[in-house]
Amino acid sequence: MRVTGTGHASMRIDTAAGSILCDPWVNPAYFASWFPFPDNSRLDWEALGDVDYLYVSHLHRDHFDAAHLKRYVSKKATVLLPEFPTSEMEDEFRELGFTKFLKTRNEEVVELDGGLKIMIQALTSPTDGPIGDSSLWVEYDGVRLLNQNDARPTDLSTFAELGHVHAHLLQFSGAIWYPMVYELPSAAKTAFGKQKRDRQFDRTWRYIDDLKADHVFPIAGPPCFLDDELWQFNDIFGDEGNIFPDQSVFLSEYAKVGGTNGIVLLPGSVTEVTTTGATTTHPVPVEEFFANKVAHLEEMRERKRPIIEAEKASWRHPEVDVLKELKRRVEPLLDESIYLAKGVGGPVRFDLVGYDGESIESIVVDFPGKQVRPYADEKVRYRFRTERALVEHLLHIGEVDWVNSLFLSCRFSAARIGQYNEFVYAFFKCLSTERLQYAEGWYDEHERAVDAEDITLGDWVVQRRCPHLKADLSRFGIVDGDQLTCQLHGWRFDLPSGRCLTSVGHKVRAHRVGEDVAVAQAAPPAS
Ligand code: FES
Repeated sequence: MRVTGTGHASMRIDTAAGSILCDPWVNPAYFASWFPFPDNSRLDWEALGDVDYLYVSHLHRDHFDAAHLKRYVSKKATVLLPEFPTSEMEDEFRELGFTKFLKTRNEEVVELDGGLKIMIQALTSPTDGPIGDSSLWVEYDGVRLLNQNDARPTDLSTFAELGHVHAHLLQFSGAIWYPMVYELPSAAKTAFGKQKRDRQFDRTWRYIDDLKADHVFPIAGPPCFLDDELWQFNDIFGDEGNIFPDQSVFLSEYAKVGGTNGIVLLPGSVTEVTTTGATTTHPVPVEEFFANKVAHLEEMRERKRPIIEAEKASWRHPEVDVLKELKRRVEPLLDESIYLAKGVGGPVRFDLVGYDGESIESIVVDFPGKQVRPYADEKVRYRFRTERALVEHLLHIGEVDWVNSLFLSCRFSAARIGQYNEFVYAFFKCLSTERLQYAEGWYDEHERAVDAEDITLGDWVVQRRCPHLKADLSRFGIVDGDQLTCQLHGWRFDLPSGRCLTSVGHKVRAHRVGEDVAVAQAAPPAS
């Protein structure tokens, strides 16, 4: 089996029974903020796009690059579709001209022509990707590959049960706006960033250890930031709180925990994987490439500047009355929302900075009051500050997912009272009835699900499944004193009270070993 690195989360898999192109991403995403790193725009995409199968893991724009798919990927390719709850992905592919689809069933192995086998695991919580994320497992002639991508299943047993895996490709770097955009003192920002960076690596080691594949490939990030306004997010300043470590950092951190089987794929690198080994050729030596990272980024920045400028020029739509349009689009959704609105539990304020860079219009999405209105000098749950032009553009194009556009762009700053609130972001990625209804239904089911099984962790008896996304705490849970941390996403819980310290809601059931359960439940919450 041959794996060709094509940048970021993208690769082409070639076997004698057919080829699969995965997640080809070349054009900048999220308001021209993210670019693939290393640059992959000079690959021979005409040849790479001439494939038998196309797999896109999810609809995030650094995976689903509509312009590139339309221009470069053969419409004769059969699209391997994950089993997602909505038809959005298929609809988008059809709009681009694709007509051949293989609708996979979740976690079911499919044998394609010539003995090529695939299996796709679809994750479907509203917090997975835009509205779902997935991983692709491939087997041919005894060689097995898992393209885990940036999906975060609770464990990898579904894949491990299909036999020993030879190549495991997974995310290790950051792909979010936290903590950089938060209005925090820089020491706090660095501390939170460092915590996040460590957690990303811990999670990666855990997955690698789960599968014990012969070869491990760090993929799906980091992106690079070429706009001058965002340049500081590149991990080139020796900032230990930067959440975007690159593949060379992965190799050195992996070595510290004893990892010796890491393989970096640059765009154009080719690895031949067999059941007994792997040989890789690179377009340039990997060490030399990363030693020249800053020069590579600077050269890219100059070359891509016209693209960024052209995008920026397209964002302004002065004819859009933002307050009126937001009311028209968001208020019906607030009326429909039960779980998300209750979960947000307070007003969310948007400060929109005008074209002059100074005037500000403050608008509140009032979740308890179910309305969109001017800010009224009140306490708010979250405050976002961004350019008015960006919101004009979102309204102009009818964007239903502000996470997959505004928030991932990092072109905003944020402040909040209290803990992280996942419902805020879940709501703003569901600005259509179809998405909102799905998310509401999911939370409804999730809330009702009674997870009765308990496990013992140190001195504590806790529910087996994490209240966040049901990770098995016997594997992901770490108890330190009175605190439980679930390592899958790093959420922390105060065990005496059960209170989640990371996000609103999500209480965990817990009591001390030997303690009367009724006494534990009657204990007052920690302050
Ligand atoms: S499943 Fe996300 S923190 Fe536990």
